[in-house]
Amino acid sequence: MAWSLLIRGGALLDGTGGPRWAADVAVEGDRIAAVGPGLRGEARRVIDAAGHVVAPGFIDAHSHSDLFYFGCPSAESKVRQGVTTEVVGMCSFSQAPVHPARRAAVASWAGGVGAALDLRWETFGQYLDALRAAGPSVNVAHFVGHGALRLAAIGPESRPAGAADLRALERLLAEALDAGAFGFSTGLVYPPSAYATTAELIALARSMAPRGGLYFSHIRGESSTLEDAIAEAIRIGEEGGVGVQIAHVKAAGRENWEKIHAALGLIDAARARGVDVSGDVYPYHAGSTKMDNLLPAWVHDGGIGRLLERIDDRPTRRRIVEECLQDGERWRTLSMGAMGFDEIFVATCARRELEGLSLAALARQTGTTPAEAMLTLLAEQKATVAMVAFSQSPENVARVLAHPAVMIGSDSIGLWAGEGARPGKPHPRAYGTFPRVLGHYAREQRLFPLETAVHKMTGMCAARLRLRDRGLVREGWAADLTVFDPATVNDEATFAEPHRYPAGIPYVIVNGAVVVDGSRFTAAATGRVLTPA
Ligand code: ZN
Ligand code: CU
Repeated sequence: MAWSLLIRGGALLDGTGGPRWAADVAVEGDRIAAVGPGLRGEARRVIDAAGHVVAPGFIDAHSHSDLFYFGCPSAESKVRQGVTTEVVGMCSFSQAPVHPARRAAVASWAGGVGAALDLRWETFGQYLDALRAAGPSVNVAHFVGHGALRLAAIGPESRPAGAADLRALERLLAEALDAGAFGFSTGLVYPPSAYATTAELIALARSMAPRGGLYFSHIRGESSTLEDAIAEAIRIGEEGGVGVQIAHVKAAGRENWEKIHAALGLIDAARARGVDVSGDVYPYHAGSTKMDNLLPAWVHDGGIGRLLERIDDRPTRRRIVEECLQDGERWRTLSMGAMGFDEIFVATCARRELEGLSLAALARQTGTTPAEAMLTLLAEQKATVAMVAFSQSPENVARVLAHPAVMIGSDSIGLWAGEGARPGKPHPRAYGTFPRVLGHYAREQRLFPLETAVHKMTGMCAARLRLRDRGLVREGWAADLTVFDPATVNDEATFAEPHRYPAGIPYVIVNGAVVVDGSRFTAAATGRVLTPA
């Protein structure tokens, strides 16, 4: 018998967090056939991994690539980082289910980050079939977005769910779980997910608890209300009887940076009493989201159409500015804390010439105040603008990265460095998250051993999702593998030049197929839509 692939001479870092050792890895078809030192056997292809680490393919614990798979099934900026599986449907966003009468509302809500959505399905199952047909290069573990559930069951209005609404939400959630969803995600700063009470979320969690569904949450506030928001997430897991993941753990806004200690303390205390809670983080002190999230929640009530009416109305616009502007120079929201206008940048915009500009610079260009410049831009672009915002402390990023219950999630989409319709200045995390943890944080900063870094991007996340046969290098398990050079692996993407692939990751194998081959990308549609155990 000949193996299809033999990776020879590398140091195996198996994803458990245990020390590396010299071992070869043989692959037959889409499975790992053998693991051990000096493997002897015939192989149709041999990769020489001398001087390199052989690791399980990385799992992006928090990704928004699902909003881009139909335009970019290769997810090249992820695969080039060594990512072979992505957890998607995050922060309340997913493209299904869709109520046929509310297609446009779903498209403007979920598509606002720059993706054109065509939404030719209604159920989550139909959507997953379309995704399989699109053929992503990565494996996909999909959650259903609570915002999508609410848009389908209730609509965009700001109101609590009544008894009938709750039954409708539970039915749609059950349908999504039947089709293969791993659970549901919330984005409690994003309408309409934000309109849910804690009771609604506990009820939904309870309804999926017997099936092992998971609750992944962008919590209700990452700034002044951080502790309450973490406590709410933990309570939903505890009372709902489900595992909880707190998305992109952070304390936003300088005045809130100290709160990170209390936040991590709440997670530790909950874990100590047996609550199944974990978190994910991206290795940067800037975040990225749609710019209209700089507006207070009430401005979003009723959907994008109502939002645009409000910012067009002079008295309402004045009210928004009065509520958010601090000492004339900082913009403060409940979800992101206070930021200077020179810390907020246009990332994606139909007016490409504005991409990369700060709101302060935009104001200087247009001869107005930064707040006016922002509101005018949002009105002109129908709220379809993405931003990058520096709201976090670099020390906190390292502290969260090092926390034993925190894994790595990019919070970004898969892109490509060539031509085409894609965001101009996206957050560099789309290209650099995983190599940055390995190169900058593990090798240069010595924040943790390489073994820990790899565990946080493989075995830890696989255990969180209860994946049966991924996340570790084991005989009989799926052949998802990444080969990197521990001495040179590095992120090359910057805020000024984000579309740059990382260095030091010559081979990435997805289900046995060599998708990154000697640093060349072969756009193989080898990913699978995974289903929960
Ligand atoms: Zn989020
Ligand atoms: Cu997210």
